Amino acid sequence: MITKEQLLNAIRHLHDPEFQLDLAELQFVRDMMIKEDNVSATVLLSSEDESYKQNLERQITAAFQQAGAKDVHLRFRALSEFDRNEAARKLQAHAAEVHTEAAEQVRNILDPAEGVQFIAIASGKGGVGKSTVTVNLAVALARMGKKVGLIDADIYGFSVPDMMGIEQKPELVSNKIIPVERFGVKVISMGFFVEENTPVIWRGPMLGKMLRNFFQEVSWGDVEMVLLDLPPGTGDVALDVHQMIPQSKEIIVTTPHATAAFVAARAGAMAIHTEHEMLGIVENMAYYQCGQCGEKDYVFGRGGGAKLAEELHTELVAQIPLGAPDNHIAEPDYSPSVYKADTETGRIYAELARHIVDKLG
Ligand SMILES: Nc1ncnc2c1ncn2[C@@H]1O[C@H](COP(=O)(O)OP(=O)(O)O)[C@@H](O)[C@H]1O
Ligand SMILES: [Mg+2]
Repeated sequence: MITKEQLLNAIRHLHDPEFQLDLAELQFVRDMMIKEDNVSATVLLSSEDESYKQNLERQITAAFQQAGAKDVHLRFRALSEFDRNEAARKLQAHAAEVHTEAAEQVRNILDPAEGVQFIAIASGKGGVGKSTVTVNLAVALARMGKKVGLIDADIYGFSVPDMMGIEQKPELVSNKIIPVERFGVKVISMGFFVEENTPVIWRGPMLGKMLRNFFQEVSWGDVEMVLLDLPPGTGDVALDVHQMIPQSKEIIVTTPHATAAFVAARAGAMAIHTEHEMLGIVENMAYYQCGQCGEKDYVFGRGGGAKLAEELHTELVAQIPLGAPDNHIAEPDYSPSVYKADTETGRIYAELARHIVDKLG
């Protein structure tokens, strides 16, 4: 004995030419009667075209017989005004559903199955150049052809948009945030979401929630690696971020002074505690190189980075010299903190990027 449901499923491949959906979903096949596998039904027509009607009759009959019906008797009638409105409403609801599904398909980059590499950049304290290193490493990776995202997770001291010379805000499409792309890097920062010069006074949980949104509500597209500019030090927020991304690897930035390295060791301890694999130490402001004679002057002391690397059983992956990028505000792609590829520091960052990619395997 065949059922109504089987018959309806048998016509799911038949789509109405005007309302696009299948005849079962549109409920264009009604008043179905089944008696000893003989079927009768009413079919609603959106078109008055005679050949359309004949064609449809053949197709429905064949589909029903395929499902096990013996005799098939079909009556036809045109859509009423009411039927038309109902069908239009169904089509609209269907479109909305498809739209929502598409939005939900935005990758959750935190899901390890997505295979996104996370690199957190940490430091023991502020002012050592953590953000400068994050930004320049991200740009260097993008110059290598990597698809790079950057999350300015330093929610109290966000500075990435300014450093990269970003003036626009991210767009919102289907309720998802589209990161701002700059020098090939997709950037998201708390700085995009707070009014200029308004102090960030949200409490920790609120900030944590906001950060989580950076991973889940942002349309990251095809990024392969995401760099995180962590808040400095070892406070709650830093710990929160560490725990949010257990699969993240980590770089620690320090200056060459022994006490700076001592403070940075605490950040290292947090990385170890949260089982973040250490990629290495970047020693920033390592020396000043004389433009004329090329001699290196170790103005902030020496050996801090190497000592820290030893302590944390990792390696010193780069030593960045003192010196701001020689950029000019009149340039179209002006940024205060991004070193150009063809400068000495630009090359050091390129080498660092290459080294990190090799290490990630
Ligand atoms: N290698 C460097 N040479 C000269 N100035 C630097 C260097 N690295 C960073 N700076 C400057 O030092 C300040 C602090 O750097 P920043 O990256 O904001 O540190 P953090 O993120 O650790 O607080 C900024 O003004 C930055 O431009
Ligand atoms: Mg910073």
